[in-house]
Amino acid sequence: MRIYLDHNATTPVDPVVADAIAAALRDEFGNPSSIHHFGQRAKARLDDARTAVAALVGGDPSEIVFTSGGTEADNFALRGVAEALETTGRRHLIATAIEHEAVLNTLKALARRGWRTTLLPVGESGIVSAAALDHALDDETALVSVMLANNEIGTIQPVAELAALAHARGALVHTDAVQGIGKVPVDVHRLGVDLLSLSAHKFGGPKGAGALWIRRGVRLVALLTGGRHERNGRAGTENVPAIVGLGAAAEAARAKLASEPERLRGLRDRLERGILERVAGTAVNGATEPRVANTTNISFDGVEAESLLIALDLEGIAVSTGSACSSGTLEPSHVLRAMGLSPHRSQNAIRFSLGAGNSEAEIDRVVERLPDLVAKLRALAAGRTPVGRR
Ligand SMILES: Cc1ncc(COP(=O)(O)O)c(C=O)c1O
Repeated sequence: MRIYLDHNATTPVDPVVADAIAAALRDEFGNPSSIHHFGQRAKARLDDARTAVAALVGGDPSEIVFTSGGTEADNFALRGVAEALETTGRRHLIATAIEHEAVLNTLKALARRGWRTTLLPVGESGIVSAAALDHALDDETALVSVMLANNEIGTIQPVAELAALAHARGALVHTDAVQGIGKVPVDVHRLGVDLLSLSAHKFGGPKGAGALWIRRGVRLVALLTGGRHERNGRAGTENVPAIVGLGAAAEAARAKLASEPERLRGLRDRLERGILERVAGTAVNGATEPRVANTTNISFDGVEAESLLIALDLEGIAVSTGSACSSGTLEPSHVLRAMGLSPHRSQNAIRFSLGAGNSEAEIDRVVERLPDLVAKLRALAAGRTPVGRR
């Protein structure tokens, strides 16, 4: 029995989505820019997907630009605004310290080109405050980027409140909603943002497909130059099967929004309670509310997270240490560090992220196996002679 608890890294493709992709791959080979029958069929499929994605976020289909995923959507938002506003004197960009690398490293790249950047601190809760943004905003701020839900700890940011503050100072607002889609209702107008990123593979769709929602009237400079695809928003012949998959995933996510997060909340809480009760020296990282229903991040005192991840994998249980991108390195998570957790506690943190296939029986198996695995790792660590004391 293999148990997958790493849905924030990526989700299995929903079978309905896989069928839609296979059919598009087989039957819709036309170039959507061609005016003949084959091209127009493919274009109609793109339009259907655009409508489904727009409906998922409460926007208009004409405001959606398809991208190669969340990373490109984030790059497009930040670089596109920066370049469009370059000559206006607004050369200051703000983001939170717990954003995904797609935002943080894009800001770093813009800083090297002369943009002033500010990272908003978060406390131990992992939630950014309005006061922190208020303090950072000035009349040169071009854009504020605040993620909707954090990928490592699941905390939900007060995007609407922050957007109102930023708008009052004339700045645009972007939200990376990659980890919020399918987990909480997302409405661009209620959030009050100007730009929103999403990625198909985080909610039952294929990898390499995503979108940036751009409020009508907001001007961005495109990342790619070439043909006039995506209303000049992104040059290059569209990846029709992947975009069809994104559209199908959007429809499925919208249909399940009323029930699936609640089901996952029950399972996540059962897992969290089980671990805290049965394994001594454990603590949840970040605020437990507001938080997406599928995620918990737990530190296991005296246990290297990597060792526990491997021990769990050998038992057929897949989890993660922080974000997938930083797995494989021993760098403590930038999110947990920004929250002020000790390096020790950050290096002991395991992320459990639940999704469509998970059942109560799976959660019970994880809770049953963990005490023994943790006890063995702690005994090993205690028996190890510290370096330099031989
Ligand atoms: C919050 C967040 N933003 C952006 C991304 C990047 O998305 P993609 O993998 O589609 O490039 C991820 C993926 O881990 C993410 O969790």
